[in-house]
Amino acid sequence: MTADELKIAVARAALPHVVPGELLGVGTGSTANHFIDLLAAEKIAVAGAIASSEASAARLRSHGIPVLSLDEAIASGRRIPVYVDGADEIDPGLNLIKGGGGALTREKIVAAASDCFVCIADHSKCVEVLGRFPLPIEVIPMALGLVSRELTRMGGIPKLREGFVTDNGNLILDVAGLKITDPAAFETELDHLTGTVTNGLFARRRADVALVSSPDGVRTLH
Ligand code: 5RP
Repeated sequence: MTADELKIAVARAALPHVVPGELLGVGTGSTANHFIDLLAAEKIAVAGAIASSEASAARLRSHGIPVLSLDEAIASGRRIPVYVDGADEIDPGLNLIKGGGGALTREKIVAAASDCFVCIADHSKCVEVLGRFPLPIEVIPMALGLVSRELTRMGGIPKLREGFVTDNGNLILDVAGLKITDPAAFETELDHLTGTVTNGLFARRRADVALVSSPDGVRTLH
């Protein structure tokens, strides 16, 4: 199977997790894009989607799926039963690294607002210890030097994602060299770095379910 076929297989496996007639949180990236396309192709009618990026919102709208802001969803008084999104790394405890597509802040917000986070990924994303994939951190532009210096002091090797600005108008540092043995503690530590908006560790609000595709099929991890 090609990498794309593995992504399509796992995106398809997420469809039964969607609650028809309810709101749906929708993530960002190539796997999430396949999920959006399949959601439309299978004509699964949701009350509306809350997107974690402008790109996903545009893709949803292009299929005629109504998109709400998170504030509109919350004002409506409706729950968001499920959030479906990809990941860059998944550890056995379903802690994640996310943000390869730069949408980590909105992804973390929509995940926090949703009852159940269904993570979809192919088996290449599974690791024993997070940190092989450089950890994305969204940074306020004026704090770039300060945050880079602090991350270097913490043992990381931060690199500016060249030519990239987030949907929120900020920059991304991709931090290599980290071995993340206690993801929740490290997420909290990074949250305290002044000038950062969000880090790409999803540990305090990790995935509830991970669907992982391989040539043998799709496994469900809890
Ligand atoms: C975007 C993300 C994506 O979920 C992550 O990068 C995985 O992307 P893909 O499905 O393209 O491999 O966190 O910010």
